[in-house]
Amino acid sequence: MSDPTVPSEAKAVSFAAYGDPEELRFTDLAVPRPGPGQVLLRVAGAGVNALDWKLRSGMLQGVFPVTFPYVPGFEAAGTVVAKGPDVESWQLGDEVVGLTSAAYAEYAVAEAATLAARPADLPVETAAGLPVAAETAVRGLGLLDLKPGETLLIHGAAGAVGTLAVQFAVEDGVRVIGTAGERDQEALRELGAIPVRYGDGVFDRAREAAAGEPVAAVLHTSGDGLLADSVALVGGPERVVTIAAAQESGPLGVTFTSGGSTDTAVAGLARALALHAAGTLSAPVRTTLPLAEAPTAHRLSEQGGGRGKIVLLP
Ligand SMILES: NC(=O)c1ccc[n+]([C@@H]2O[C@H](COP(=O)([O-])OP(=O)(O)OC[C@H]3O[C@@H](n4cnc5c(N)ncnc54)[C@H](OP(=O)(O)O)[C@@H]3O)[C@@H](O)[C@H]2O)c1
Repeated sequence: MSDPTVPSEAKAVSFAAYGDPEELRFTDLAVPRPGPGQVLLRVAGAGVNALDWKLRSGMLQGVFPVTFPYVPGFEAAGTVVAKGPDVESWQLGDEVVGLTSAAYAEYAVAEAATLAARPADLPVETAAGLPVAAETAVRGLGLLDLKPGETLLIHGAAGAVGTLAVQFAVEDGVRVIGTAGERDQEALRELGAIPVRYGDGVFDRAREAAAGEPVAAVLHTSGDGLLADSVALVGGPERVVTIAAAQESGPLGVTFTSGGSTDTAVAGLARALALHAAGTLSAPVRTTLPLAEAPTAHRLSEQGGGRGKIVLLP
């Protein structure tokens, strides 16, 4: 079933060789068709993730090779405009948000089971930046099996994943110490975390912030060379999880997690949307850019230096 206005070709951003951001081309490509269990979205906003530029650069081609031309983008907010034959959960015209493939496009396919309805009062740009971070936060915290009252250290707590992980953990009654740059200390405090500055001496500051309580677990989302001291802080690698330091994690016995499931995708969005419904969700958007400016979006993402998601608007 398909909206008759869906064209056979539409604008998309793709790259046909690994390289710098200029490899991203804004062209007409065939509109994908939803298969079993899938829907086609008219994309209203596509979130930009670090993985997007890492894939484009070629730095991950050994572990995550792509087929050219490759359309980046793992998350979007949009309107359901076509569905696979067996999809009952959504109707044409529904406004949804969720994980997708090839989201840097006017039209993108998503697994129907991983989507959530976008509340009318949740802006497209905020919604589009939620799915990856929410899924990752739920997955990372789930692996740590935290109990209320335990103290958790989050490295990179003001990043997209960290910001949601802080909110989910605080909601669960966990005491969160979060590392961030000077700019984001107050923002972390407002989320309910005890903020400490990242950089030299971060573990001394974290111990001081713990104020005599043991740090039970560490969620690492950012920063090089932090896992060995994290293991020492917690007293073993079992409750140290990283989403960002695969190579460092192996020799230390630390869990590196990547790639979610339908369950974590659904749970992550449900948690974020529940916070939105309660009026307490904090999910900053750094900037929005037209889809055609994907090279600028990748440069900004790679450089860092700003808080919040970058979102492309077709
Ligand atoms: N494995 C997975 O499943 C998975 C899923 C999603 C993301 N990731 C990865 O996880 C990482 C974080 O993703 P994100 O979307 O949250 O990125 P993000 O929004 O760019 O956030 C990164 C945060 O890390 C902070 N930071 C920089 N240096 C740090 C340090 N030495 N110690 C602690 N924090 C530091 C940054 O602060 P400043 O702004 O001050 O620089 C920023 O707040 C990326 O590498 C991404 O590729 C992995």
